Amino acid sequence: MLAWDLLLTDARVATMRNAAPDYGVVDGTGTIAVKDGKIAWIGAASELPAGKALEQRSLDGRWITPALIDCHTHLVFAGDRAEEFERRLLGASYEDIAKSGGGIMSTVRATRTASAAELLAAALPRINALASEGVATVEIKSGYGLDVATEIKMLEVARQLGKESNVNIRTTLLAAHTVPPEFENDADAYIGLICDDLLPQVVAGQLADAVDAYCESIAFDASQVARLFQKATELGLPVKLHADQLSDGGGAELAARFNALSADHLEYSSLAGIEAMAGSGAVAVLLPGAFLTLGETRLPPVAKLRAAGVPIAIASDCNPGTSPICSLRTAMMLACRLFRLTPEECLAGATREAARALGLADDRGTLEIGKRADLAIWEIGHPRELAYWTGTPQLAELIADGHTGRS
Ligand code: NIG
Ligand code: FE
Repeated sequence: MLAWDLLLTDARVATMRNAAPDYGVVDGTGTIAVKDGKIAWIGAASELPAGKALEQRSLDGRWITPALIDCHTHLVFAGDRAEEFERRLLGASYEDIAKSGGGIMSTVRATRTASAAELLAAALPRINALASEGVATVEIKSGYGLDVATEIKMLEVARQLGKESNVNIRTTLLAAHTVPPEFENDADAYIGLICDDLLPQVVAGQLADAVDAYCESIAFDASQVARLFQKATELGLPVKLHADQLSDGGGAELAARFNALSADHLEYSSLAGIEAMAGSGAVAVLLPGAFLTLGETRLPPVAKLRAAGVPIAIASDCNPGTSPICSLRTAMMLACRLFRLTPEECLAGATREAARALGLADDRGTLEIGKRADLAIWEIGHPRELAYWTGTPQLAELIADGHTGRS
């Protein structure tokens, strides 16, 4: 007889398994057994093998989906950019504000001054807000330090957030976010600092799970990013890229060339770039919060991504400048309304494909035997509601790594 830690019965289960139709819904009365933080069994109650569980609970017809995954955030930062938000509403552009020393740099100044404890205290409610809507994995980027000490401080705070919450944190080094004033007119020298000084320290301290860069006219060009990606690859870290957000800088092609886990934004990507991504297996991470907040009009090439078979993920991009939206559910709804993704594509984009964008597809993102028991239990009539309502308390319970988080 099998022995489980937890047995959830009388559920409706959307597995979101690859290529499974209709949200991968389990026929019949869904049952999930958990053992050692993993899914030990999943299927219809009628097929459940004989077993005993330490705890057994009926879910009374509630839905279970994979816990959500926010695969692109910048949620460790100090200060805010509400004043810049007002200026942009009065007509200033994101690029103009950046060029005059505002934008990312104004968050850099605040973040450099803040202590690790202050950054942690500011970020914890953001993590808890995501968890309260069913998110069990969050990727957090550095990139508001732009010097060795502050980039490391940000990554350490991000790691600490994982210890102080029920959320699994994946960290990404985004030191190549913009050129800091110390290196004005010498972006190459700053890339040199990242490659020769910062990256080796980050690797030695196991502080980052990936390396990201902002490939854009107001940040770094393709050859500078390529130099950084070369070094990251040599040091064994996977890469991802803020690509083609405001112009076509060949970001999608560059990401594909370095076998990036993902290329993110992509509003201006060319067909050649999309085809290159399809060839390399990179995930397209779409960020409707930034699109909305920047008042963009150029839509990401969703139809071409679909036609090429590029997996599409959705993320909040939570940050104080371009996406002051600490809600993955809101990003899912916006992806439906702004980008015309279907609710099923959005849920896949916030589970299965988000896991893929973090290199975690074998471990989570769908409900399958052997994967992490990261389960969201919902008071909903159908999973399509997850990309429809926002701000509603539909999460009944979040089980992360097999733990209910209930006291
Ligand atoms: O994902 N595009 C660059 N990076 C962020 C914005 C960061 C900021 O403005 O503070 C983004 O949009
Ligand atoms: Fe971003």
